[in-house]
Amino acid sequence: MRLRGTVLAVLPLANIGLASTSETSSGLLPFAYEPFPLGSITPNGWLRIELQASADGLAGHLFDFFRFVKNSTWIGGDQEYSSLNEALPYWVNGLVPLAYTLQDDRLKDQVSTVVDSILDRIQPDGWIGPETLASGERMIWARTLVFLGLTNLADADPKYEQPIVDALHRFNDLMHSMLKNNGTGMIYHQGDKVTADDYVWFQARSEDMVVSLQWLLDYHPGNQTEILKENIDMIHHWASKWEGWYSEGSYITEDLNDLPQSVTTDQWQFLHGVTVAESLKFAAVYRRSNANESLVTTAKNGVDWTFKYHGAASGTILADERLDGLNPYYGSELCTDVETIYSLAYNYFALGDSSYADRAELAAFNALPAALSGDWWAHQYVTQPNQPYSKNLTDEPFWNTNALSQTFAVEPDYPCCTVNHPQGYPKFTMYSFLKNGDSGILHSLLSPGRIQTQIQGKAVSVDCQTDYPFDNTLSYTVDSDVDFQLYLRVPGWATQAKIQGSPSDDGASKDPKTDLIKVNIPSGTTKFTYELGMDLVTADRANDTVAIYRGALLYALHIPHTSTSGPPKFYDTQKEYPVGTYPSEAHDYVLLNSTEWNVAIDPSTLEYHAGSGESLPSPTFEDGQLPMYITAKACLIGWPLFRSAVLSRGYV
Ligand SMILES: *[C@@H]1O[C@H](CO)[C@@H](O)[C@H](O)[C@H]1NC(C)=O
Ligand SMILES: *[C@@H]1O[C@H](CO)[C@@H](O)[C@H](O)[C@H]1NC(C)=O
Ligand SMILES: *[C@@H]1O[C@H](CO)[C@@H](O)[C@H](O)[C@H]1NC(C)=O
Ligand SMILES: *[C@@H]1O[C@H](CO)[C@@H](O)[C@H](O)[C@H]1NC(C)=O
Ligand SMILES: *[C@@H]1O[C@H](CO)[C@@H](O)[C@H](O)[C@H]1NC(C)=O
Ligand SMILES: *[C@@H]1O[C@H](CO)[C@@H](O)[C@H](O)[C@H]1NC(C)=O
Ligand SMILES: *[C@@H]1O[C@H](CO)[C@@H](O)[C@H](O)[C@H]1NC(C)=O
Repeated sequence: MRLRGTVLAVLPLANIGLASTSETSSGLLPFAYEPFPLGSITPNGWLRIELQASADGLAGHLFDFFRFVKNSTWIGGDQEYSSLNEALPYWVNGLVPLAYTLQDDRLKDQVSTVVDSILDRIQPDGWIGPETLASGERMIWARTLVFLGLTNLADADPKYEQPIVDALHRFNDLMHSMLKNNGTGMIYHQGDKVTADDYVWFQARSEDMVVSLQWLLDYHPGNQTEILKENIDMIHHWASKWEGWYSEGSYITEDLNDLPQSVTTDQWQFLHGVTVAESLKFAAVYRRSNANESLVTTAKNGVDWTFKYHGAASGTILADERLDGLNPYYGSELCTDVETIYSLAYNYFALGDSSYADRAELAAFNALPAALSGDWWAHQYVTQPNQPYSKNLTDEPFWNTNALSQTFAVEPDYPCCTVNHPQGYPKFTMYSFLKNGDSGILHSLLSPGRIQTQIQGKAVSVDCQTDYPFDNTLSYTVDSDVDFQLYLRVPGWATQAKIQGSPSDDGASKDPKTDLIKVNIPSGTTKFTYELGMDLVTADRANDTVAIYRGALLYALHIPHTSTSGPPKFYDTQKEYPVGTYPSEAHDYVLLNSTEWNVAIDPSTLEYHAGSGESLPSPTFEDGQLPMYITAKACLIGWPLFRSAVLSRGYV
């Protein structure tokens, strides 16, 4: 029995809060490690291949044919999938970092066209977006996503800096008057045409707007310091209080399906999967503004409990719309995967606790690619840890996603993941190197990539070539006009991490407080390697099952299958897209197992095989192509289905 590497993996660890407590000139607590501006980091190796596949795939072509982007109300069209008007905003949030991480001119042109159109349409009172006063209420939520994209664009492209800062300042003034007026834009008022539920999205995801307001405070406060701070306070005032939810006694540790429906209804704002993924950074974001140190613990509890009680072995959150429990037939939404990666990366650079980076890598290397076709043209809405096939389930086991939600398609179940998935690897790449003090660079999310920056006005470049996480060696070439310190993060599972080939630092060991190894880099060119060491690890899961990891990769049984494809279908009507209205690479798929899949393994017989030593396949995660695999003794077992999904038993 061969277990082929593709999907997923783990590792929670206890931690020390490293967050700094002295304020910056903006009055905010500083990040433990400050991010570099978008565009400073470029991907190498497999990460570049995957980002390019996304650019060449669905993400990079939505602007050409996808109605909710091409004909969005934000740029003069009339197409929205909901009253939240959030489709193009999600696209902006993902395409800005994708375009500038790859420095891809075609995508930069798309971004320019859209951003210029958004800026041109700013309304006389400063409102950004299509909602007019005449048409009724203006909900703030969708601007959150646009602003995340705009602030990154202002960092990446000097010609956009001033127009974007000006637009955000004007909006900030308007938002100040709205929020002062009894929370207008954030809470439901009698007579609004949208429902109170529509307002919940912003209330429950408030921290993502605060990220942009803090960016203004940090880098472009203008004369708005007080207004920005008041806006943050007012947003917190009207927001869902995640600091209360992530406390003993409030948090629900049970499987939600075992609890009465009323619990779900009452606590909905805290139970929606994508919202939970976004809110993993709530405590770390607000702590910067209110300096409440107990939020460091709140952040840790929020993350640890989410994954302990509702987490998948792949590093994502099991929530088929609403949180579930641990059964491996539950789904995890692609939007949840990418928001989880971003939030965990944020928590790492805000708080400095390496366990967040471990978890970010886990989700990025396992949950995210599992939900996408190798060519990045099709995706699942939800991914099941135990999934023998991908088809119309007819009798689906999910809380509120449909029978097609685990198929690979252009817009399965609902279009949010179609527009939100592009941010995954670009954000991961953006935070893969961070600043550590005035003269340090940290390789934070380990992956192949290169940072080009300046230290004390002198040029520095750090280039990392590696097949990590598929291999345990990272090779660095550093070119620097100045002496500086390069810090390398040591994942929690890496017990034998060591530097080799850099005479002064051979044998340097990690600082147990930071989980970093420091390498002193002299000016000139320096080359060395960083070896992690990787063991096979068997992790216990619910119902006497196990998950198998090697380093940051989760291993899964490769199930041979047949694949049939057809034209993309509209998510709501299930009618096919008309001929000629979509790129020829876009398909919806049905995958059927061509063998039995119901095997049990003897974990004591697991053996790792590196494969034939050939280079990684391209695309990296195309089904069954990776050379490394694990073997084990196995036998077929009876394995009943729950509805039309698989009941837990054996491994995940
Ligand atoms: C966009 O709107 C135009 C004008 O109504 C229409 O001709 C076109 O088919 C629409 N495209 C999409 C992708 O919806
Ligand atoms: C504020 O809005 C709430 C919710 O619509 C409403 O119940 C309340 O009366 C308003 N208060 C004021 C002072 O307008
Ligand atoms: C704040 O700055 C803007 C331009 O950035 C200017 O128009 C405005 O007058 C200033 N307001 C105050 C109160 O100084
Ligand atoms: C600080 O945060 C904790 C949650 O970690 C919260 O319970 C407490 O009320 C906050 N304190 C203040 C003064 O806001
Ligand atoms: C999925 O199966 C159900 C039950 O047989 C059927 O009603 C539904 O139309 C199917 N959906 C599609 C898109 O084939
Ligand atoms: C595929 O899995 C299903 C569900 O367990 C099973 O009934 C079927 O026999 C399998 N197909 C093959 C070709 O083994
Ligand atoms: C796993 O065990 C729990 C009780 O310990 C049970 O509620 C749940 O249904 C089991 N799940 C499966 C898939 O057997």
